Amino acid sequence: MSLQGKRILLGVTGSIAAYKSAHLTRLLIKSGAEVQLIMSASALDFITPLTLTTLSKRPVYSDFFDKKSGEWNNHVELGLWADLFIVAPLSANTLAKFANGLCDNLLSATYLSARCPVMLAPAMDLDMYQHPAVRDNLRKAQSFGNILLDAESGELASGLVGQGRMMEPEHILMQIERFFHHKADFKGKKVMITLGPTQEAIDPVRFISNHSSGKMGLALANSFKSRGAEVYLISGPISIAIDSADFYLTQVKSASEMYQAAEAIHGSMDICVFAAAVADYAPAKIAEEKIKKDDSEMSIQLKKNVDIAFELGKIKKLGQIHVGFALETTNEEAYAKAKLDKKNFDMIVLNSATEKGAGFQHDTNSVRIFRPDGKSLDSGLVSKVQVAELILDEIKNIPVWI
Ligand code: PMT
Repeated sequence: MSLQGKRILLGVTGSIAAYKSAHLTRLLIKSGAEVQLIMSASALDFITPLTLTTLSKRPVYSDFFDKKSGEWNNHVELGLWADLFIVAPLSANTLAKFANGLCDNLLSATYLSARCPVMLAPAMDLDMYQHPAVRDNLRKAQSFGNILLDAESGELASGLVGQGRMMEPEHILMQIERFFHHKADFKGKKVMITLGPTQEAIDPVRFISNHSSGKMGLALANSFKSRGAEVYLISGPISIAIDSADFYLTQVKSASEMYQAAEAIHGSMDICVFAAAVADYAPAKIAEEKIKKDDSEMSIQLKKNVDIAFELGKIKKLGQIHVGFALETTNEEAYAKAKLDKKNFDMIVLNSATEKGAGFQHDTNSVRIFRPDGKSLDSGLVSKVQVAELILDEIKNIPVWI
């Protein structure tokens, strides 16, 4: 999708992620946009204006008054020039200024003057990102109509692992493209997504589970939401924060809780996506007290869990679409096709548990999508955001889609 002729103001603030603004500038320029950069004073400590001037082919502004040219950088004109103002990375400090109307530099003055839509891509350490003050400021900025490009999870500059990384430039580009070529092709559709793992209790302190992070399910949720759908999430225990303002969220632990929640809303859904990694077995009995260690070996008897997709597949209504996932380590294609048939899916997304960069936990995935007519499509190794978009596009090729 081209951004030809679009005028984008790109604000850069003081964060280690400022180096990514060079890549973002390049991507925007490549897709045809005009890019004007504004840097905060502390951003200058992380990346040189020369790099960004060279990439954007325009002078970079950081102060009201340009000492070299003697020119006044007019924040009102900048705010009026742009079709979109994006601040990436957005530091906690600049966010606080935006949320509270503080205006002590060119960037914050331009923010207050801008009449165009504003996108915010925060970047900070995970504890900062979860601090109530930051959460409050983010909510406040969103209540002004600013579009939040939520921070991604992964390894942070501090060495800690969690949510706080600035959204990858490729993902930001996709959001910007989507913003300008907005497709509301799922408007009016109700979508249920199961995501994350389930936890099956052994005793009050132990459980059986798996490595699902919920990232794939959440990427799908964001795609459906941004394309106009009403999204109902049934999530097993995951550590990624889900913004309950965006989705109808039910949090569950076990497979049987997930089934009850899914069954309760299934009848009124247009599309159901089964992205959860549901435990197939659970302990036959949950010990009431913590099981004590003794000298002998022990075994736990397991009982079969309800197969949510299979049970709901039996009562799938005419016109309803069911999309399944398959995670395999051997005979991947044959097992996936068997599940497509057995669980009455309209489409199944096979991802490998052994391929590098695919499946559990990663921000990327590599999938093969099968349809009942035997047709299949490979995504290659791409971000989960891109996989989600591909799945939505494929859903529209299902014959029952109206
Ligand atoms: O969460 P991430 O870290 O991002 O990882 C994503 C993922 C790998 C978990 C996801 O992409 C995925 O593949 N989810 C399905 C994993 C799985 O359980 O596959 P399966 O082959 O065991 O199950 C087949 C289908 O039946 C799935 O749609 C599953 O949700 C559903 N199922 C399975 C068992 C069960 N008891 N109930 C179900 O609904």
